[in-house]
Amino acid sequence: MSERARPGAPGIVALPVLAAALAWPLDPGAARQAAPCPLDPDPVGRAAADPDLYCMALLPTPRVLDARGSAELRRPPGPFSLDVTPDGRIRYRVVVTTEGLPDPSELGAYTTYVAWAASPVLTPVERLGEVPSSGSRALGDVAMNRFLLLVSAEARADVVEPTGPFVLRAQSPASRMQPADFLEFMLGATGVPEPADSVAAGGHGGAHAPGDRWGSIPMPAGITMLPAMMELRPRTTTPWLPGTRDDVVDARPRELIRLAEGDSLDLQAVVVRRRIGNRTLLGYGFNGQIPGPLLWVGEDATVTVRFTNRIDWPTSIHWHGVRLDNRFDGVPGVTQDPVLPGETFTYRVRFPDPGIYWYHPHHREDVQQDLGLAGNMIVESPDPEYYGPAHREEILMLDDLLLGEHGLVPYGLERATHALMGRFGNTMLVNGEPEYALETRPGEVVRFFFTNVSNTRTFNLSFPGARMKVVGTDVGNFEREAWIESLLITPAERYVVHVRFPERGPVPLVNRVQGIDHIAARFLPEVDTLGVVRVDGDPATGEAGRAFASLRVHQAARDEIARVRARAPEPPELELELDMETRDLPLVVHRLMQVDSAYFHPLEASGTMPMMNFMSTGEEVRWILRDPDTGLENEAIDWRFRVGDVVRLRLRNVRRTLHQMQHPIHIHGQRFLVLAVGGVPNDNLAWKDTVLVPVGSTVDLLLELSNPGRWMLHCHIAEHLEVGMKLVFTVEE
Ligand code: C2O
Ligand code: CU
Repeated sequence: MSERARPGAPGIVALPVLAAALAWPLDPGAARQAAPCPLDPDPVGRAAADPDLYCMALLPTPRVLDARGSAELRRPPGPFSLDVTPDGRIRYRVVVTTEGLPDPSELGAYTTYVAWAASPVLTPVERLGEVPSSGSRALGDVAMNRFLLLVSAEARADVVEPTGPFVLRAQSPASRMQPADFLEFMLGATGVPEPADSVAAGGHGGAHAPGDRWGSIPMPAGITMLPAMMELRPRTTTPWLPGTRDDVVDARPRELIRLAEGDSLDLQAVVVRRRIGNRTLLGYGFNGQIPGPLLWVGEDATVTVRFTNRIDWPTSIHWHGVRLDNRFDGVPGVTQDPVLPGETFTYRVRFPDPGIYWYHPHHREDVQQDLGLAGNMIVESPDPEYYGPAHREEILMLDDLLLGEHGLVPYGLERATHALMGRFGNTMLVNGEPEYALETRPGEVVRFFFTNVSNTRTFNLSFPGARMKVVGTDVGNFEREAWIESLLITPAERYVVHVRFPERGPVPLVNRVQGIDHIAARFLPEVDTLGVVRVDGDPATGEAGRAFASLRVHQAARDEIARVRARAPEPPELELELDMETRDLPLVVHRLMQVDSAYFHPLEASGTMPMMNFMSTGEEVRWILRDPDTGLENEAIDWRFRVGDVVRLRLRNVRRTLHQMQHPIHIHGQRFLVLAVGGVPNDNLAWKDTVLVPVGSTVDLLLELSNPGRWMLHCHIAEHLEVGMKLVFTVEE
């Protein structure tokens, strides 16, 4: 395969020392990728983390004009693609490289250099550590949205604040975000886009009154909007909402269905009436339930599902994450014909791996999944100790819904709206309801199974005051348990998390993120409370409480991963670039995107560009997977593998584009390990099927091809999938 993708081969200095300092395993391949930001960044941008977003040039002050340096913002290793604080700030490990600093004594009564991170107004200032006159060193971590990096000459290494003169300085990449200036405001005030009501009401399924127009669009609180942007509406598709019909049923909570080997089940996608707060909405549910029935099966069981489509769209069921027989994978146009309204399709699903999975349609997910078609499957291991002890289990499906004044904001009939960033909702749901509630006893350990079924939102969840550890994810357990401060979960991912609730009292489940006000160029902390856990009664007793205190090693996962890792080829053999193209955007939108592209945040955690996002469809925006070896894109790519292949695949989220955001990339029918993110190797692996690729970063996967057939690889942001971000690969027997 490709000879080209050899990241970080040139210019490596003192790597064993660096790797040892950071306590990384000295896997030669991994260590080679861990070179710090070079002093002269590679302009072609083939680094594992794009220098523009993850390197800062340290400029000399007039005292040391011949000195220079760089600082790399490196992801600390961990279970997630980004290390995020509970309030949503990204944490980086700073690796400083310097050259040509004089001996500190030449500047006065100084013996050393010390690096500091400071907020833009210089308080607070955090000490990062000593810096060599020449060479690289990994320093402390920084978790500030925007900061200055300063190096001062000091008399003592252990000073707690800078006292000597500054010699090098840099601004963090987010400092490049600038408020829109007068020109944008002028454009924003005068550029009047075409009226939104130029298209007629949708006849598809009989849209009711509010669907005749796009209606009023809710605005996130606190963000700056320009008048002309408020007028933006999709121009190339008709507003659509489900219409009422004779067979509408009231939505019910999900039912638990236990299925044994050979069992069968009837599933129907139907129109439901559901209540969210004080509003009644039409939606879709499997067997009238939101979420769909919870299927509980034993490892290796095969069950038969007779599926009938009673909604207005062609549809199918995809069994997300399950390494099943290809012809039952549920992808219209690839593994089956769409199931048309009124039709039935019979799936035979085998569940080879213990864990938590989910099922959803694979046609217009932006509409069907959002309206309620999603359900979980738990595949139970025969080993009762598989996850370790807990007092109880809770299976939580996370979602969000976009509600305006008149109910649901319409969907696009002919094509998906929100093609830029995906449809962020403004109402958070747990298991289809806005206010999740749970009662536990003090000291109780709860095993949570989380699944994110939202179209685009990445959640950053925590239970303030309760400790959490991550146990497993998509297709199995981590090699060992790990403490986490919050759970970063992107669309389609699953995590198994143990949480201990120590004391009596209410504990909220919160989503805390840093949104971005793109026009005012500032970070906007957001907090959403998804529910409350009430801790009360007699303290919980037993083994689970004791076991919680220590981190278990999952030897079975470790052994299995080691077997496959031993066959890993050295450099990445395949690469995919994640990119985008736009055309025919209204002037105000194009202009703001240009300004905005001075900086992209690695994670866009909330929908703070609502109108630009809403108006965009596949007519204006195309998201791209590109094989840089062949130049082929999306469905033109035709990778072929053999069962038994183990392939190293690098996903590169390119930074050079008019707009960029993170992408949750999902691979059907197989499983993979996340070997490294941004060139930083992981040392605690787990089998996965979906991974978050941060902006400007790379993710190195070890993909095990174990299951023959034609399979999809795509972005799981429903709208990105709709506008082309997908490919099909073949695994031959
Ligand atoms: Cu969750 Cu292609 O799917
Ligand atoms: Cu995407």
